[in-house]
Amino acid sequence: MTERTVYCGLVNDQYLGKEITLKGWVQKRRDLGSLIFVDLRDREGFCQVVFNTERLSKEDFELANLIRSEYIIEVTGELAKRADDQINPQIKTGRYELYANSLTIYSRAKTPAIYIENDLDVDEEVRLRNRMLDLRRPKMQANIRLRHKVTRTIRNYLDERGFIDVETPMLTKSTPEGARDYLVPTRREGGAFFALPQSPQLFKQLLMGAGIDRYYQIVKCFRDEDLRGDRQPEFTQVDIETSFLSQREIQGYIEEMLKEVVKETRGISIQEAFPTMTYAQAMEEYGTDKPDIRFDMKLKDLSQWAKTSEFGVFKNTVSNGGQVKAINLKGLADEYTRKTADALVDIVKPYKAKGLAWVKVLEDGFNGPIAKFFNGEDQVLIKKRLEAEKGDILFFVADQKDVVASSLGALRNHLAKKHALYDTAELAFLWVTDWPLFEYDDETQRYVAMHHPFTAPQNDDVEALKENPADAKAKAYDIVLNGYEVGGGSLRIYQREMQDQMFELLGFTDEEARKQFGFLLEGMDYGFPPHGGIALGLDRLVMILAQEPNIREVIAFPKNGRGHDLLTDAPSIVSMDQLAELHLKLKGSD
Ligand code: AMO
Ligand code: AMP
Repeated sequence: MTERTVYCGLVNDQYLGKEITLKGWVQKRRDLGSLIFVDLRDREGFCQVVFNTERLSKEDFELANLIRSEYIIEVTGELAKRADDQINPQIKTGRYELYANSLTIYSRAKTPAIYIENDLDVDEEVRLRNRMLDLRRPKMQANIRLRHKVTRTIRNYLDERGFIDVETPMLTKSTPEGARDYLVPTRREGGAFFALPQSPQLFKQLLMGAGIDRYYQIVKCFRDEDLRGDRQPEFTQVDIETSFLSQREIQGYIEEMLKEVVKETRGISIQEAFPTMTYAQAMEEYGTDKPDIRFDMKLKDLSQWAKTSEFGVFKNTVSNGGQVKAINLKGLADEYTRKTADALVDIVKPYKAKGLAWVKVLEDGFNGPIAKFFNGEDQVLIKKRLEAEKGDILFFVADQKDVVASSLGALRNHLAKKHALYDTAELAFLWVTDWPLFEYDDETQRYVAMHHPFTAPQNDDVEALKENPADAKAKAYDIVLNGYEVGGGSLRIYQREMQDQMFELLGFTDEEARKQFGFLLEGMDYGFPPHGGIALGLDRLVMILAQEPNIREVIAFPKNGRGHDLLTDAPSIVSMDQLAELHLKLKGSD
């Protein structure tokens, strides 16, 4: 085996006229009889190799005849400039070709199940089943390298500021992040289970109690929840915790770190501070707690007007305690027929909206199925409120507050994407602050922690919290990027008494709280510092930086949309013996 001189994709002028050795995978082979061209590929790119009978021994040329796509070969030869009319400006090394003097075939390959090309028209399931081949595609290689660059930048940034990387257990006790746990049985204790961590939340707080002061970890977390394009059952957090810092200081570090990541990966220097919005404002104007602020189209409240509207649906909704809100799709009325505008109801239906009303703004008034309900005065008022003019189309939803928010929020995102109202390369960060401390859970009919039960309230007055839990605010902050929640954090409760009261407020008995979180509560009895932190969703962050549509594209070996690993075919059935050893029996097995 001869030593490799350089990666195929990094061949340059310095090697011209010299004998060099390349190794890699055969992308393509063109056979012209006494001349064979091969595009040789490695992680850095391609180089064209020429095999001819003049240079090669008879044996080696015969060998070259055997080469097929995805064979792995070693070639030693002389690097030359291509003739001017042969230059391929599409690739970095398109000016060169290697005249082979000798050849070794290391490994043969069957015809691969997918083409090793960026533009691939194949079902994702096929890609996941053949992930090794899929990962050979330059685009996937770039995503993996981008992810590495992000974690490297984060590690360097945090290390330079005194953050210490500490590992926390994977076999642990259930953590309260709100999803279902993945449980792990153990043969040593029948009937008892470990839980895989939903996050290292409790451990990182204990590390603050231990005096680590600044902790970070790039760590796998496990949540058994309904999957979406931006959710995986196992995903990675950049988990951070600090002692003695204010919310502003913590946000400052995270902001600076994210700016550095953007600079390293996208070459963009973001100068301005990330904008901040309260949770209340986000819900009011964007209908979501993670607004995409790359475009405007804010939700405008028309409830006051609707009270006296002639349209029964609007009027009745408001008199029943609901709302009417609308958005203005500017200048695009002509893009819609009655049929296509009506069809948009399908976008809001999944959010339980009962309908979607719309009007077009024409020169001489409103037009559309419900236009007749708007008199001249109404039109003036609504046009003003929605900053509407000729050529705009307005969409209305009347319903309970949360339905209006989620359905119009979703429609806003849908329309912006459909009509390309933003630059897909833009990165719009946003802090969302002043979160509610609690949310009401209809199922159990009680208040639960919106983030987790260790989040500090803005107001330490427990009596006030008890009296009016719906209005209680948390010292919590989320970081949003292009409409995705890429991170969430808070200052924590650090006094035992306050934590006890919080559990009581959340309906835990003393015993329940001690059983689940006793190790943290006890810690608080032995000198516990004020502390706070955040966790960033690494997969989501990389997905957005890579401009990919889902996080599977930036995870080397992801699960599919149903949480199954198609590559290894996991989860899989295990033997009865294995189960017996774990003191387990399958339902219905006897
Ligand atoms: P949280 O539950 O908000 O906070 O999680 C932090 C971030 O992790 C990402 N994330 C996910 N990414 C992919 N797939 C999933 N299933 C998934 N679930 C969450 C999101 C989210 O913002 N312990 C707290 C953090 C803290 O308070 O410090 C926590 O886990 O980007
Ligand atoms: P209807 O009078 O029920 O035929 O509805 C007339 C128009 O109003 C249709 O376009 C419906 O989709 C729309 N609509 C019905 N209910 C609502 C609602 N709650 N919010 C917004 N639009 C609605």
